[in-house]
Amino acid sequence: MDPHAPLLQTLQTLTSVLPEKLQRPRIGIVCGSGLSGLVESFREVEMVPYENLPGFARSTVSGHKSALAFGLLGEGEGVPVVAMLGRFHRYEGHDFPTIVYPIRVMARLGVKNIIITNAAGSLNPSIPVGTIVVIQDHLALPNMTGSNPLLGPPTSPSHARFLPLSDAYSPSLRRLAFLSAHKLALPREALAEGTYAWVCGPTYETPAEGRMLRHAGADVVGMSTVPEVVVAREEGMNVLVMSLVTNFVVIPERYRSIRDEVEAELLGKKIELPKEDVVSHDEVLAVGRQKAEVMKKLVGSIVELIPTA
Ligand code: 6GU
Repeated sequence: MDPHAPLLQTLQTLTSVLPEKLQRPRIGIVCGSGLSGLVESFREVEMVPYENLPGFARSTVSGHKSALAFGLLGEGEGVPVVAMLGRFHRYEGHDFPTIVYPIRVMARLGVKNIIITNAAGSLNPSIPVGTIVVIQDHLALPNMTGSNPLLGPPTSPSHARFLPLSDAYSPSLRRLAFLSAHKLALPREALAEGTYAWVCGPTYETPAEGRMLRHAGADVVGMSTVPEVVVAREEGMNVLVMSLVTNFVVIPERYRSIRDEVEAELLGKKIELPKEDVVSHDEVLAVGRQKAEVMKKLVGSIVELIPTA
């Protein structure tokens, strides 16, 4: 099948359902777990369910919706934007072309700047739950080990075969994130800068895996975003990623030693056990709900600051 056939159909569908002024969004937004509330600050919203769009899959994760939201964001006339409410993950079983399809659609609609949000676990003790981390770089084991989203023939002859990613996270958009935080009078600790580690999921990390990622220089870890970033860069967009820290990754200082316990028990002694902890998706969604408001304001303010030209 011609890989561009669904793209053309998707674009035709959008042209036929959207009012003229929403047809050329300037900024794309990807809403992570529990962050779809962003759309509440859009005006003149037009929702287009993924099921009406050829080439779009269905999001199967709880806390994720399944629609593109078009609307105007910001003061005055407003900036036309498009948001993905619900994204596709590798762990859902989608292949890479499906995961990044909406990004290709955004590129063809004329989106030049993309703001991607996600929920992530913190690997860095100085980045607590509730912090929004402005991503400066990524660590993607799947990309390095044969699961790169750009595997296969290039989608367009105009794309670079060997895409550089040393400049993937736009310094000028990251600047706007910090300027916006200042404008909104957020406390300094509300925002941090860090490196995102992408893992496939759907399992959360073992302690050894979390420790490895931490030692490798990652500050937060999550199961999304990097495929979208890679393709947005391939399409020539400026990328801003903000991760909301919903939980700490469990990295115990020491393992519970079953041998010590058995030996102590045999000697009739009691020993102190390290605390055991596990992550849950409910915890991730709950923090998403609490902090969604801050993320919403931040994205709104950044959108207003992105230059028009
Ligand atoms: Cl702890 N790990 C991963 N891989 N993704 C997450 C997370 C943790 N917390 C939220 N998303």
